[in-house]
Amino acid sequence: MNADRHAPWRARLDAIARAGRTRRVRTLTPTGPVTALLDGQEVLVACSNDYLGLAWDPAVRAAAAGGGAGGARLISGARPIHRALEDAVGALHGGRALLFSTGYLANLAAFSTLPVEGALVASDAANHASIIDGLRLGAARRQVVPHADPRAIPADAHMIALEGLFSMDGDVPPLAAYPPDPWLFVDEAHALGCLGPDGRGAAAAAGVTPDVVIGTFGKACGAAGAYVAGPPEAIELLINAGRSFIFSTAPPEPVAAMALAGLRRATTDAALRERLADRARRLRDGLTQLGWCPLGSAHIVPVVVGPSVMEVAARLLSRGVFAPGIRWPTVPQGAERVRLTASAAMDDDHIDRIIEAFGPAPTA
Ligand SMILES: Cc1ncc(COP(=O)(O)O)c(C=O)c1O
Repeated sequence: MNADRHAPWRARLDAIARAGRTRRVRTLTPTGPVTALLDGQEVLVACSNDYLGLAWDPAVRAAAAGGGAGGARLISGARPIHRALEDAVGALHGGRALLFSTGYLANLAAFSTLPVEGALVASDAANHASIIDGLRLGAARRQVVPHADPRAIPADAHMIALEGLFSMDGDVPPLAAYPPDPWLFVDEAHALGCLGPDGRGAAAAAGVTPDVVIGTFGKACGAAGAYVAGPPEAIELLINAGRSFIFSTAPPEPVAAMALAGLRRATTDAALRERLADRARRLRDGLTQLGWCPLGSAHIVPVVVGPSVMEVAARLLSRGVFAPGIRWPTVPQGAERVRLTASAAMDDDHIDRIIEAFGPAPTA
């Protein structure tokens, strides 16, 4: 084969390497809910979104049954487990729900299909890539607005798009303070099962009822997949025009069954949620006492360290704590961070090991 055939790809990879932004996928073999072998090294996992430890839960694992879906649901039909899961989500949020294989696909469909053509969508500056990509694919006008600031919503906004608990900033926007007239779409990926009454998310915690809620099963529910929940018109429109629903294979039955078991546990076990909040407080307090200033308020605990983030992450790893550095384009340049996450499955010793691995914050 011509050696230069793939030169354009090498050139781009070289450019990424020159900018110091090469990414690498590492092999993580779990040995417990919060422990693993990382490329053979024993580590404490301090970066997982398995906030309630349900990915390791025997009941969630045992729920896996059935096979692949065999196709997109408009072609080969919904399985009973898909219906059961959608009914459970609908009952949770008080509306209807539609399943997707991932949160990325759910957001592509919701944010490209549901906004009104030509209308203005105010999109929070810290929104996840899947929200941004969905809006880019759609026909609405998009204005990026300052993060978590209700006063920054333009008067002519027809819709507001934000996260219930921001994935990289760890904060909850003041949802009750946003203007009530625009449609409100809240991605509760990181809050489902963790915040609010019955673990319904940050909007429910704030007493706010969004027009549309997106949730994922790959985080606190310990499985995979996602949903869009909303009024019947929204769900029917997604079934008829949501391209990432129409043209993508339905979630496999074992995954849907695990998601249902995880969702049931995450939304009924208040003690587990309280334990997560307690673990998060211990982690935040310990880091603060050492002079670090973690962002946010909940179980996502981002510590902004700036451009030296990869060295900080390497130092943590040398001390047996796995939490990779988060860099641009995931977060703004200059605001590179280690994104720690608390888990209900962490005991005091786990939390203290993370805090000790950080050590005292450098003095300015
Ligand atoms: C806020 C938010 N929405 C959506 C997603 C995508 O979910 P999934 O990983 O299921 O594709 C993520 C992923 O981390 C996320 O952080």
